[in-house]
Amino acid sequence: MEACIQLGHKTSQYILNQNSIIDIQDKLIDQDFIFIALHGSFGEDGSIQSILSEMNIPFNGSNEKSSKICFDKAKTKNIVIGEGIDSPKYYHTSSNSCNDHFDFSAEKYVVKPNAQGSSVGFNIVNDVSKINDSIDIALDFDSSVLIEEFINGREITVSVLGEESLPVIEIKPKSGVYDYNSKYIIGETDYICPAEMNSIKYRSVQDCALKIHKMLSCDVYSRVDFKFFDNKFYFLEINTLPGMTKTSLFPKAAKQHGLSFKKLIEKIIKLSLEK
Ligand SMILES: Nc1ncnc2c1ncn2[C@@H]1O[C@H](COP(=O)(O)OP(=O)(O)O)[C@@H](O)[C@H]1O
Ligand SMILES: [Mg+2]
Repeated sequence: MEACIQLGHKTSQYILNQNSIIDIQDKLIDQDFIFIALHGSFGEDGSIQSILSEMNIPFNGSNEKSSKICFDKAKTKNIVIGEGIDSPKYYHTSSNSCNDHFDFSAEKYVVKPNAQGSSVGFNIVNDVSKINDSIDIALDFDSSVLIEEFINGREITVSVLGEESLPVIEIKPKSGVYDYNSKYIIGETDYICPAEMNSIKYRSVQDCALKIHKMLSCDVYSRVDFKFFDNKFYFLEINTLPGMTKTSLFPKAAKQHGLSFKKLIEKIIKLSLEK
């Protein structure tokens, strides 16, 4: 909102969720543009995008259909793997009785809600006998769960803006795990941008992120998370409304690219109006 005001726009702020949208719909109708700064279900899963499209109000980023697919990690992985990109082996389930169907031969697993964000409801499991407890925790946050093999690699994220990938960031959480606290508490994580790796690998992960953004029909901007292990990039997920807080990754990549926060917001609005 600060950036929008600095850019000279007459700006109002609405704090909303699924229930309050109905109360403010008549106020939204007068706006030329809505900048969605929501996360999680309703904000990121295509719901608000569908409402705004029906009201004919332009908004930032991807449309309803693409947002909906990208918020569903299993569906997204299925598409991305189908295009020949590596991603951790996974099993998608809505119950804790999945042991028969999944090949539990890896040493470590990640159990996470299928459609969520911010690392909530997320657990690393070393002992297969504990997997059902972790599934139950993840099921508190969503109706289905993703069990993935754990990739013990470097944490890499690539921001896409318009037709290009921005500088690559390596994320180094001090706790060793990129959980909720590592994401949102200043000083808990070191960020290296541009990430240190050979230039061929650097360019290949930038190309890969742009390819994923396009194959999922994303618009304007997105951020693609990877693990980098044994010289291979493993796709984790794509974020269609990347975080824009003080610790967030997308603004860091933009800054390295020569775009201030204000310029970044200006560009997102401009590209969104052109889509
Ligand atoms: N298969 C995996 N192997 C290793 N680490 C993982 C794996 N899946 C997730 N993580 C860790 O958990 C974090 C959050 O997972 P992610 O899939 O990006 O979901 P979200 O950011 O939506 O919560 C990642 O940034 C990574 O550090
Ligand atoms: Mg993520």
